[in-house]
Amino acid sequence: MCGIVGYIGYRNAYDVIIKGLQRLEYRGYDSAGVVLFDGTQMQLCKTKGKVSDLQAKAAKEMNAVGTIGMGHTRWATHGVPNDVNSHPHYSNSGELAIIHNGIIENYEPLKKELINRGYVFKSDTDTEVLVNLIEDIQKTNQLKLGKAVQIALNQVVGAYAICVFDVKKPNEIIVARLGSPLAIGIGENEYFIASDASPFIEYTNNAIYLEDEEMAIVRLNKSMKIRKIKDDSLVVPYVQELQLNLEQIEKGGYDHFMLKEIHEQPAVIKDTYRGRLLSDKGIIKMAGVEDNLDKFTNAKRIVIVACGTSWHAGLVGEYLIEEFARIPVEVEYASEFRYRNPIINKDDVVIAISQSGETADTLAAIKLAKEKGAFVFGVCNVVGSSISRETHAGAYTHAGPEIGVASTKAFTTQITVLALIAFRLAKVKGTISQSDYLRNLLEMELIPSKIEEALKVDGHVIDIAAIYKDAPNCLYLGRGFNYPVAMEGALKLKEISYIHAEGYPAAEMKHGPIALIDEHMPVVVIAPKQNHYDKVVSNIQEIKARSGKIIAVVTKGDEQVRALADHVIEIPETTEALTPLLSTIPLQLLSYHIAVMRECNVDQPRNLAKSVTVE
Ligand code: AGP
Ligand code: GLU
Repeated sequence: MCGIVGYIGYRNAYDVIIKGLQRLEYRGYDSAGVVLFDGTQMQLCKTKGKVSDLQAKAAKEMNAVGTIGMGHTRWATHGVPNDVNSHPHYSNSGELAIIHNGIIENYEPLKKELINRGYVFKSDTDTEVLVNLIEDIQKTNQLKLGKAVQIALNQVVGAYAICVFDVKKPNEIIVARLGSPLAIGIGENEYFIASDASPFIEYTNNAIYLEDEEMAIVRLNKSMKIRKIKDDSLVVPYVQELQLNLEQIEKGGYDHFMLKEIHEQPAVIKDTYRGRLLSDKGIIKMAGVEDNLDKFTNAKRIVIVACGTSWHAGLVGEYLIEEFARIPVEVEYASEFRYRNPIINKDDVVIAISQSGETADTLAAIKLAKEKGAFVFGVCNVVGSSISRETHAGAYTHAGPEIGVASTKAFTTQITVLALIAFRLAKVKGTISQSDYLRNLLEMELIPSKIEEALKVDGHVIDIAAIYKDAPNCLYLGRGFNYPVAMEGALKLKEISYIHAEGYPAAEMKHGPIALIDEHMPVVVIAPKQNHYDKVVSNIQEIKARSGKIIAVVTKGDEQVRALADHVIEIPETTEALTPLLSTIPLQLLSYHIAVMRECNVDQPRNLAKSVTVE
């Protein structure tokens, strides 16, 4: 999710806010807006596009005066990027303004109730529902803004970092957070509010970071009170003296965006299944799938088209959908599909996977499939992107902006969406047992914490990276669900460290690649304790017999492979179907650390672009 900036003090709020939004530009976004209180009324300006577009529009439309205001950069989750859906949003009365990072899961029932109570909505966003819910509570109960916000947030399910302003009480800003970051910079007679410290670090390095389910009333000349949203209990504020510099803040304290995004995976996988998975009730609900269930269940075949890492996610999708929903799946490189005059039937379903939503080959493949009458479903990470608009329906990953060219959190959130689709279709078709269904759904909700655990091997991976950072070649092997992960691991190493690497099905070794094995060849083998385990152990022995160096990714506690491999990296146990979400983690870290040790440009590798919008 994107960026928020608020200011209350003695400076020109517009200048502070615009500069703050520019500081947050690294987070990627699709639109921007600002609201100012000029002493008597609010002035609001917002637009699709960049902060520079906002500045140009504000120069024409606003008298940018006032010492209190709020600004926002949006990464859309509900409602395409356009002027109306941009933030800030006013309440119906025009007395309240809100900016919001995050997702309100239960915005639809809340919106229906508010419409019944006479509220009208200008935008398609979940955020506009929240500000009107706050207004409705405030007016119905004659409450101060802080109390109304607190009651409203106790009715909301989802993630948020919000700033709310009431023109009737213009000396305060109410802030609150759950699941999205919010920092408060404390200056001399001034307060700064932001998604991270980058907008205010030049003014003050004293900051409070709100914790989840906390809110605060930010008011001049009054000590700031922080309260628990749930029970209104007071929280003793912990004021930190920040020692970070601007660049470190932009990367969340990590050295590179790629490493930050690797570590964001637990949170963004949770964001991706949020509102779609109710494991305790055994429910999966994704509007794009539910509205087209018959197309999926009657499909003779599903064709997945994608490029690069998204193609690897598609390969995992093939294994998931065929294993559980028993629908034939073919995975095609979009660049090949679009030119080879493929056979596409009207009862085919095509799934197009793309992080950027702008990949030219994938877009062309979609258009071809539509011309031939297929139903096309998109899995994208950018709301309102070309691919999301070209497909008949779709499901967004909620990975937030992925800045590093090497795709990491997009890969695991794509697999999350594909797994939910596979389990849902299997349930409808009756091709999965209730126990398997429930076991996988419950396991999906444990994945974020298991990824947190998998990330703890970082120090061990650094030791391994130091040994193999100068290897000229590397092989990656996996079987079943982990074969696509082997391919993905090889791509990661190739694209950021420039070491030649290939991913193979482990059994393929004896059909040629084993000729490459000698004491100089590191071989990464994904060997979790699951189906094919014994076969993978045999493959490891074949490699060992030829002096290959073995880096094995194993299930925690595995002693058998430990006795054979040169290095072992442990991952927590999970279901076979969800293993790719864990087995990919050490491979991401390994490629990252090798690239850093080789002094490569990790976030912008040579010759590559984040989105390949040309053929
Ligand atoms: C993956 O690390 C690469 N950056 C690249 O292969 C990428 O996955 C591919 O270009 C597809 O991009 P998309 O998902 O935005 O369509
Ligand atoms: N869910 C809100 C929207 O789509 C906020 C998105 C964000 O975090 O920028 O407008």
